[in-house]
Amino acid sequence: MATQEKQNKMNVTIIGTGNVARSLSTRLVSGGNSVTLLTRNVEPAGELVSSLQQVAQAGATARVAPLGGAIEDDVVVLAVPYSAVEEIVAEYREHLGGKIVVDPTNPLNATYDGLVTPADSSAAEEIARLLPESTRVVKAFNTAFASTVAAGAVEGRPIDILIAGDDAEAKATVGKLVEDGGLRPIDAGPLTRARQLEGLAFLHIQLQFTRGTNFGSMLKLIP
Ligand SMILES: NC(=O)c1ccc[n+]([C@@H]2O[C@H](COP(=O)([O-])OP(=O)(O)OC[C@H]3O[C@@H](n4cnc5c(N)ncnc54)[C@H](OP(=O)(O)O)[C@@H]3O)[C@@H](O)[C@H]2O)c1
Repeated sequence: MATQEKQNKMNVTIIGTGNVARSLSTRLVSGGNSVTLLTRNVEPAGELVSSLQQVAQAGATARVAPLGGAIEDDVVVLAVPYSAVEEIVAEYREHLGGKIVVDPTNPLNATYDGLVTPADSSAAEEIARLLPESTRVVKAFNTAFASTVAAGAVEGRPIDILIAGDDAEAKATVGKLVEDGGLRPIDAGPLTRARQLEGLAFLHIQLQFTRGTNFGSMLKLIP
């Protein structure tokens, strides 16, 4: 691979090894970007690392490390339940200054019939309040179901990834990662738009039950 091309690739830290971590990692490594997965249970994640190595392109790598260790990457994804974020951010707060923190969470309540965040806020904005001012929070990946992100497309059309944030450079960085992975980034505006993105994802979840699409549909803007 040409050195120039390699220099444009990144290493992304993902906290979690669940559905979103797996699907996002698949897109990242298949787009030539590397991942470090931080987890409470390193051993079972070995199988995930092996499967990622099989789809990695252009020298991308995947590795797993214990949660609690240092975060070296500039982009960190919180692929955990919203209820776990406060504890994780408390542990890592000082490490996250100046970094891009990507929030894919949907703050659903226990009965899946509402959101736990105040109507005049969003998970992303609440997370931004917990972090240093220099942290650039970007809402992304919450409106697409993990299985569709892993596949990259539904019925042959690439998944749209709606991205909200207040820092244009941070959104562009996330957009490039999305594009590298074969998905379509769409700038949805400032971080306050996360309120609508979380509402949209909530609706998309409810539609699975009325339409019986088993978390296999996608939200697509045409054109
Ligand atoms: N699934 C989807 O299609 C989808 C789509 C868009 C957005 N989201 C959102 O993305 C987030 C992750 O969803 P998911 O489906 O990937 O969930 P998941 O499959 O249940 O995975 C959650 C991950 O978070 C880790 N975790 C949970 N509590 C933790 C804690 N207190 N400290 C450290 N790690 C903790 C789990 O680790 P252990 O394995 O050690 O328990 C697991 O690796 C959620 O906020 C969800 O709303 C999901």
